[in-house]
Order: sequence, then structure tokens, then C-alpha cells
Amino acid sequence: MVQLKDDDSDSADKSKTKMREAKATPAWPAVLFAVAVALIATGVYYMAQSKTGCPFHFGKGDEASPHSSVASPHSSVEQPTFGSGASLPETYSGQVLTKQQLSQHGQGSSSPWVSVLGHVYDVSTGMRYYGEGATYDFFTGKDGSRAYSTGQFDEEGLTDDVSGLKAEAIGEIYNWLNVFGKKYPLLGRLEGPFFTSEGIPTPVWRNIESSLASLGKVEERRRELRREFPSCNSHYEKEFAEVWCTVKSGGIVRDWVGVPRQLHVPGESVRCACVRNTQLSDPKLQLYDNCDEAASKCKIKR
Ligand code: HEM
Repeated sequence: MVQLKDDDSDSADKSKTKMREAKATPAWPAVLFAVAVALIATGVYYMAQSKTGCPFHFGKGDEASPHSSVASPHSSVEQPTFGSGASLPETYSGQVLTKQQLSQHGQGSSSPWVSVLGHVYDVSTGMRYYGEGATYDFFTGKDGSRAYSTGQFDEEGLTDDVSGLKAEAIGEIYNWLNVFGKKYPLLGRLEGPFFTSEGIPTPVWRNIESSLASLGKVEERRRELRREFPSCNSHYEKEFAEVWCTVKSGGIVRDWVGVPRQLHVPGESVRCACVRNTQLSDPKLQLYDNCDEAASKCKIKR
């Protein structure tokens, strides 16, 4: 099977290829099995890609980039954005709910509420997810923030204790505010680890803001790197791959082509970058084995 793409669509193509292969099986039990495998594979793929863990959010664009504005259409309650350096003010005039009030809108309730990072949403219009016996009814009536990143949906996992989580995980949880903010009315803040009984941000919330800010910086650096060193076009065969540069690769349109080099950035996976002559001495760059210095296309052993 031959795949032709630029680096950004690599995994997507592989996933689609797997699904096409699954569809080709003729007998009914085998077809059912293949469909199940394809669904699981798709779920796992989207989970890896979307950071929110859900094909639903990824597929419909609801994954809501951490860098997008997250003002809820349903409320004037502010939510900070990653990397913007913005933080919630020390005052709050909205509604503050207690855990007890929230718990009255739990499993089996006809008006379920969920809370993420101390933000309480009325998810009554999402009964297909949160109604009694529905897939995600365990999220209702509580703040199970941690589980939105870990996927641990038992009593222990469904907790508002987000201590010890890395910035990426905090970002994953925060993404759900974006998702919920677009779909459901925000009722107010929950008194607990994130907000005081007056709805004022606690030190735990301030730590979340710091994590989001550092994540924003990391993301900004990634975007800069993508602009500075656009990914190469690539073509994968079983035994080898070809990488090459054109005036549009890695989603970057430009007036130069460049030559392919391996880009080594600490903390990032090694990838192929298109590089201008003026950048060639950058220590992050390495020439591919068996590739000429000036070649705009390299054939690599896999
Ligand atoms: C950390 C892991 C996960 C979390 C926290 C999570 C959470 C959620 C939530 C809260 C919703 C409802 C969203 C809404 O109210 O609009 C949802 C929907 C959905 N999730 Fe997940 N999910 C996770 C993993 C997965 C995985 C691995 C799959 C697929 C294998 C999946 C498949 C779906 C689907 C298909 C929907 C939409 C259901 C429908 O349209 O009826 N989720 N998820």
C-alpha cells in the first residue's frame, strides 16, 4: 500500500487505510468483527490526535484549540485562554453553587449538571450522554475534572483533585470547558478546590492558569518551529520513505523550497524539516544518511 502525503496527515491516512482494509472482508461475522476493530482503532486514533479523547469532539471541530477564545455563548462568566497570560479577576458576581446542590443533579436526574474545573454546566440538552444509563452519566452531579484527562471513570478517578497532573493533562481537562461552553449553559462556579464560597479563584485555580500559560508558550514555540522549519512532504513504503520539499509543505506556503533535514528539538519527536541555505548550520539539523547535501529529495530506510 502506497501513501502520499505531507507529514501532518500521516496517522490519518494510516487510520483510513486500516478502515478500508477492514471493510473488504466478506463474511458477516468477520464484517462485524472488522467494524468493531475499525471503531476501536478510530477511537484510539482520535484519542491520540484530539487530546480531548473523543472522536465526537475532534470530528465536529469541538476540540476547541486551547488557543481559541472560550467565551461561553450562554454566560458572561470569563474563562482564561491558554498562553494569553489572562487570568480570572479577584472578584466574582456570578452564582456560586455548592457540591450539595450539584449532587442533586446527578445520575438519574432529569436536569443533569456537570462540573469541570469548578465550572458548572446544565447539560440537560445532552440527555443522550448524561441521561440515566447513558454512556457519560457518571460525570453528572459532581466535579470529576481529573477523569476528563485520565479516562479513569470510577469513584477514585472521578475527582476534583488535579494535583500532580502535567500541564498537558490540565490542558486536556481545560479543553472540556471549551467543549461544554459551546454547547451548554454555564450556571456558575462551584465552591471547592478551584473557587471559594464567593467564587474567587483559589491558589489551585491559579496553578491551573500557570499550567495553561506554560502550555501556551510551548504551543507558541511549536507553531514558530513549524513556520521556521516547515515539515517535508513524505511518501512511505514498507521498506523506505521519501521526503522532499516544495513551496508548500507542512501546511506552510512559502516562496522558497529548501532541502530536507532531520530536525532534533528536545522534547519533540524527530521530524523532517525543509530548510533554507541560511539555516543549514543550525545544530538542531542533521543530514539524512545517503542523501546529498543539496538534494531536495531524500530516500530513507525505515
Ligand atoms: C478520557 C477519555 C474520554 C472522555 C473524558 C470522554 C468524554 C466524553 C463526553 C463528556 C462526551 C459527551 C460530550 C457532550 O456532552 O457533548 C463524549 C461523547 C462521545 N465520546 Fe467520549 N470520552 C472519552 C473517550 C472516548 C473514546 C476512547 C471514544 C471512542 C472509542 C469515545 C467516543 C465518544 C463518542 C462516539 C461520543 C459521542 C456519542 C454520541 O454522539 O452519542 N470517547 N465523550
